[in-house]
Amino acid sequence: MKVAEQRNCISLLLLAWLSLGVLPVRAVPLASCDPAYQRDSRTLRSDQVTVLINGYSTSRIPLLLSISAAYAASPIVSSVLVLWGNPSTPAQTLAELAHNLTLSSSATASISLIRQSSSSLNARFLPRPSIETGAVLISDDDVEIDPKSVKFAFRIWRSNPDRLIGAFARSHEIDLSRKEWIYTVHPDKYSIVLTKFMVLKSDYLFKYSCEGGAERRRMRNIVDEMRNCEDILMNFVVAEEINAGPILVGTERARDWGDARNEDGDEDGALGLRDGGKGSKVREVGLSSRRGEHRRRRGECIRKYHRVMGKMPLRYSYGKVVNSVGEQGMCNKGGKLVFCDQY
Ligand SMILES: *[C@@H]1O[C@H](CO)[C@@H](O)[C@H](O)[C@H]1NC(C)=O
Repeated sequence: MKVAEQRNCISLLLLAWLSLGVLPVRAVPLASCDPAYQRDSRTLRSDQVTVLINGYSTSRIPLLLSISAAYAASPIVSSVLVLWGNPSTPAQTLAELAHNLTLSSSATASISLIRQSSSSLNARFLPRPSIETGAVLISDDDVEIDPKSVKFAFRIWRSNPDRLIGAFARSHEIDLSRKEWIYTVHPDKYSIVLTKFMVLKSDYLFKYSCEGGAERRRMRNIVDEMRNCEDILMNFVVAEEINAGPILVGTERARDWGDARNEDGDEDGALGLRDGGKGSKVREVGLSSRRGEHRRRRGECIRKYHRVMGKMPLRYSYGKVVNSVGEQGMCNKGGKLVFCDQY
């Protein structure tokens, strides 16, 4: 090597060393409303989904591991993000959990643990630069859905990408005697799907978290005040956007260990869990007064959102899309069930 070349080499090294040491290296944030970190939705993959599972309680870790591993094994899942929302969990436990989750990753889908920077329930809907798919699947840490039904729900989302797809449904309704909105389970209609299992466009994360100005901010604050109802708010956001209700899909097998946050177990609705009698529920009913309290609080959220918006955007849907007749999807069209390929 000639002397001049050597000198060039050294100055290049020096430059590299300087830029590493002196120039700030900007790390991509885990979650952000900054438009610079939003992906163009046309570049997102539409053949797979990113799974976001909320974790909070260490007593549910064995269940969380099993649910994460089941999702990671599905060919339609590109990655699984476990969003840990409990700030008081010891770092040691989380390190162990992260390790255990890595062991449960599959050849095609990794599972990562993300410690949320706040315990706000809104954080589960933050847009994340690591989401590379057009759809996300939101799940709580207490519900297992059979793999075939997960695939089916994703197929229904692909033919209805603007809608919220869910497997557990509830309803808003007007209480005529008290003239106020309430939260309930209706036998033949629904307007809300729960985050026990929800598939939606990734764009809706941005809408929920970053758009809607002061009104949406006020509504996100209600989630924090109530420490509940982020799922209901997502239903409000999407219904307002598309003026249509969610789509309920049937599942072959859904195991529901009850609601982590409310400790009262969400009831088996007339809709959602009554699938061929095969759904099993570990926590039994018999908590009626606490369940009543749960419903009352959820009703309060609906009334608060309604007050902020000055209107009721929730829309009813009817019927359930089921996977039957030789894998043919059935879709609800004007109140009638038809094959989805005619939809
Ligand atoms: C991780 O796995 C080990 C071995 O199965 C188990 O003993 C431990 O409790 C697990 N810890 C966490 C936090 O997942």
